Amino acid sequence: MHKNYYYIANWKMFFSHNEVVQWFQENGDQLLQLSQNNSIIVCPSYESLAEVGRAFHGTSLAMGAQNCSESLKGAYTGQVSAQSLKELGVSYCLVGHSEVRDFCGDSNKQLEEKLKRLVEKSITPIFCIGESKTEYEEKNTQYSIENQLAPLIAVYSKTAQPCFIAYEPIWAIGTGVVAHSGHITQVLAIVKSALKACVDPDLVRYLYGGTVTSKTISGLKTIEALDGFLIGSASINFQELKKIVV
Ligand code: PGA
Repeated sequence: MHKNYYYIANWKMFFSHNEVVQWFQENGDQLLQLSQNNSIIVCPSYESLAEVGRAFHGTSLAMGAQNCSESLKGAYTGQVSAQSLKELGVSYCLVGHSEVRDFCGDSNKQLEEKLKRLVEKSITPIFCIGESKTEYEEKNTQYSIENQLAPLIAVYSKTAQPCFIAYEPIWAIGTGVVAHSGHITQVLAIVKSALKACVDPDLVRYLYGGTVTSKTISGLKTIEALDGFLIGSASINFQELKKIVV
């Protein structure tokens, strides 16, 4: 049976702006076709949001951003506000991706503010969580995951808007190593139990990310608790993305 998964293409900084334009010239029509029966969300980097937003307007494709500022507006050089994302046609936004956590050192408090800014603009956050290799090896996954959920719980116990949670073990991102389905199921159970008392389960969708490819997808699709996939490097090649989706 066809399950309507969410496929989120996280393009990171793989493309320059001109390369994004070229990608859509070559693959745009086919991508649109693919989105007739599947929910596809493309997250280009900031500089291409306006162009992609115009191309997606009025279609079945949706656009996401890779990050946003925790501030409303003001003297924040290099930052982009949730208001701007909204104006450009962004419907989803990654929050707390491990690469951003790594480069920017976002604290839980900052992530909470980012979630608030997005919720205020009705942009659906894709909140990323995942344990490090050391935490995994030392069996500290549960502690790490529960700690990372704190900003989400703080915001979502007071709001009735949808939210995506992407479980991305750091040791599986861009490494060619995919997490075992038993481990993913276990972590999703930890997340659901942590959210149970404070977040409406109907509002939450669960994603997995970390080495999602045409080779790993069939195993991942057997995990019942998953509603979709966050796809990094495999999503920049249209033929590969197509194999993941169909
Ligand atoms: P990957 O990246 O698919 O290249 O492992 C996933 C991500 O970082 O979202």
